[in-house]
Amino acid sequence: MIIALPKGRILKAATPLLKAAGIVPGPDFTDDRSRLLRFPTNDPQIDVVRVRSFDVATFVAFGGAQVGLCGADVLMEFDYPEIYAPLDLGIGGCRISIAQPRGSTLSDDPERWSQVRVATKYPSITRRHFAAQGINADIVHLHGAMELAPVLGLSHLIVDLVDTGSTLRVNGLEEVRTIANVTSRLIVNRTAFKTQPERIGGIINRFRQALASGT
Ligand code: PRP
Ligand code: MG
Repeated sequence: MIIALPKGRILKAATPLLKAAGIVPGPDFTDDRSRLLRFPTNDPQIDVVRVRSFDVATFVAFGGAQVGLCGADVLMEFDYPEIYAPLDLGIGGCRISIAQPRGSTLSDDPERWSQVRVATKYPSITRRHFAAQGINADIVHLHGAMELAPVLGLSHLIVDLVDTGSTLRVNGLEEVRTIANVTSRLIVNRTAFKTQPERIGGIINRFRQALASGT
């Protein structure tokens, strides 16, 4: 079985949870210099792969990995029917928010948003959110450093993750409103769950017990 894990911040919070679920990747896994992408674990039945957070959902949806740890933001963006998300892991808490240059008066007058340009790595969430308010958002699709976009004239607003708020603050932006709260989920491939109910169900239970034991 392959478990897909996101690199970056979530991985730190996920490591103790994995351990409590009885999954301990080999020593190379936490070595940033290692170029390996797939790692054996203490369980000969389980390997873990380390991929970008957006790609965790794609690997699981296509069945390349049967299980993954994935932010609710990514699940909302893709909405893959092949993915089942049985557990909220309670880690990686943050929110998807709209932000604007500090002191901008744009948000005071939503009427003016009829022509709004928004930089984001969440084109689908952003389009849906604005469309629900009758606003046709013009999306500038970036993959990181969204905070630069309004300052450098690419967009009026951004839609991005906010945790402590310090990235917005130091880049001269302020939060306008929250679109959704986010935590990480355990995800599984529906077909794998159907064809190997014991193995996949067993993994789900190991995580459920790890959460119940307060890890
Ligand atoms: C994320 C997010 C924000 C920042 C929010 O970026 O895109 O920029 O963290 O955290 P804060 O509110 O605590 O400052 P990340 O550092 O993961 O990099 P990326 O945008 O390049 O993916
Ligand atoms: Mg960022």
